[in-house]
Amino acid sequence: MSRKKITVIGAGNIGAAVAAYSSAEELGDVVVLDILEGVPEGKSLDLLEAAPILGVCSRIVGTNDYRDTADSDVVIMTAGIARKPGMSRDDLLKTNVRIVSEAAENAAQFSPNAILIVLSNPLDAMVYAAWEKSGFHWRRVIGSAGALDSARFRAFVAAEIGVSPVDIQAIVIGGHGDTMLPLVGSCNVGGIPVNHFLGPERIEEIVQRTRDGGAEIVRLLKTGSAYYAPAAAAVELARSVLLDQKRLLPVSTYVDLHGEFGRRNTFCGVPAIVGAGGIEQVIQLPLTEEEENAFKKSLSAVCSLMEEVDKLL
Ligand code: APR
Repeated sequence: MSRKKITVIGAGNIGAAVAAYSSAEELGDVVVLDILEGVPEGKSLDLLEAAPILGVCSRIVGTNDYRDTADSDVVIMTAGIARKPGMSRDDLLKTNVRIVSEAAENAAQFSPNAILIVLSNPLDAMVYAAWEKSGFHWRRVIGSAGALDSARFRAFVAAEIGVSPVDIQAIVIGGHGDTMLPLVGSCNVGGIPVNHFLGPERIEEIVQRTRDGGAEIVRLLKTGSAYYAPAAAAVELARSVLLDQKRLLPVSTYVDLHGEFGRRNTFCGVPAIVGAGGIEQVIQLPLTEEEENAFKKSLSAVCSLMEEVDKLL
């Protein structure tokens, strides 16, 4: 079996963490690309020097040249500007559409068979822009947000109950923003429904903290946004693609709207099976009436963003 190749676009906080996690578990050789001169090279060299200590054989190079990314199996898009305190994810839209569009075109040109995993924010809008500009089939463009939002939900539930986070299952669907929908009915602790352990008020507080999870970290850091958990979530997706694990994970993917909200399509968070083909199957979830209404509200918010992206593409 030949070695896999992973390109990380953007050598900032998230890109560097993605490169570190991917190389530490030897998912493949890693190329880190950024427009800044020296930064991708420097961070890659630093990671390469960690390899003998970690006992891994992954090669890591930094570059400003897309030719070095050629024939990647997975391209992970983290380029863009991050949120500052007081900024919403949507404030990032204009700048990041331009950055992600250009990067997706280049990535697709040099790695026409890759699976593209997008983390740049506002997430659903950036996945849409990357899909449009890459020309890839929607199954090969995956938005990484739902697994992160679910991980936050799981971490908070675990801490509250005093149980391992590994044993908490949860799904968060909808747009990666204020209207995201942590599905309480899907949350269980080692197979036991969460409401066996926590009362409705405590669960609601955790749901709200999950929705505000990104903002909570922005407030604390003051100069940037979260990166360890976002990177870990993207690597979880990359692993499922590269090892064809067929994990069932919430992702931002193509949703056929058939004219609802005045649009043919959008990208939004739903559960899906992720494997070597990218999004291999989207899972239709049975939702309660209340959840259905909340999901529609989230879809509508995401669609407004898509309208903005359409004007910029
Ligand atoms: N091509 C490649 N890299 C670019 C480009 C471009 N056109 N434009 C900007 N970059 C790089 C920047 O030089 C920087 O190194 O993207 C990197 C972004 O890094 P950070 O500012 O540290 O941001 P980070 O925290 O990594 O977040 C990246 O992911 O979750 C989202 O909201 C977040 O949109 C942001 C993105």
